[in-house]
Amino acid sequence: MNKASAPAVPGASVTDGPLIIDGKATAEEIKVEIAAEVDQRRAAGLKVPHLAAILVGHDGGSETYVRNKVLACERVGFGSTLLRYEDDITEAELLAKVAELNEDPEVDGFIVQLPLPRHISSDKVIQAIRPEKDVDGFHPMNMGRMVAGLPALLPATPSGIVELLARYRIETDGRHCVVIGRSNIVGTPVSILLAKNLEHGNCTVTLCHSRTRNLADIVRTADIVVAALGRPEFVTADMVRPGAIVIDVGTTRVADASKKSGYTLKGDVCFAEVAPKCAAITPVPGGVGPMTIAMLLQNTLRAAKGDVYPR
Ligand code: GUN
Repeated sequence: MNKASAPAVPGASVTDGPLIIDGKATAEEIKVEIAAEVDQRRAAGLKVPHLAAILVGHDGGSETYVRNKVLACERVGFGSTLLRYEDDITEAELLAKVAELNEDPEVDGFIVQLPLPRHISSDKVIQAIRPEKDVDGFHPMNMGRMVAGLPALLPATPSGIVELLARYRIETDGRHCVVIGRSNIVGTPVSILLAKNLEHGNCTVTLCHSRTRNLADIVRTADIVVAALGRPEFVTADMVRPGAIVIDVGTTRVADASKKSGYTLKGDVCFAEVAPKCAAITPVPGGVGPMTIAMLLQNTLRAAKGDVYPR
């Protein structure tokens, strides 16, 4: 059988129904691996990794993400610090906090949760973070090193997607991957990683965005679809080729009076109609989201070990 007609998931056929790619369970596996390494480091008298997070304001989604990041640190035995500021913090004040964390020997890595209030330039803040501590992988130094194929702290969501494909042994080599959305956080970096000549790369990548013409026609040609545009249920069944792999990065809160929280989390893919058609799909929640946190922990461990930038 040639590669183009081989099933993208070993052993799977479309008639089996889709494989649900369980990001929650995979993230748990990774956290167990990290916790074991932390225990070994502690036993050897080495420093326990420490992640700090800066949260500005009270955006509901950001609060949940940061809370989950701090909880995940506790799970794997990392130290963690949460620094919270009100919306009216000035850019200069925030840059001063970043400078403090840059110099704090206890902190191995830190993140500034985005989005930031409009009066603060997220570019300036990201560029103020020392690349060695930039565990989000957003600094131009890490981005540039990733593009050049040099060791780098890689952005967490894109590397979480690659890790899911790898752990589920989903063939990427030579396959056509269509990424929808060109954000610096997900769409652009994941398109670069999947095209690289790496074990879980070598895709032919098409990056679609808001100005793309005939987007549905292009998505229909994909072996692998990565939906990362932030529009709930944008990808419908008619846009997906039978047997495709579908990775849903969307997590939009949509008002839902029937829920205690008052909202439902919606992905960028209309799961109910797309799932029966594809070979494998990530659910929302429980797909890519938990992987982002697991990869952030992995980056923090790498930063503590000096894997990328020797100390
Ligand atoms: N906002 C949405 N995703 C992310 C992320 O991965 N890191 C940070 N810092 N902010 C985000």
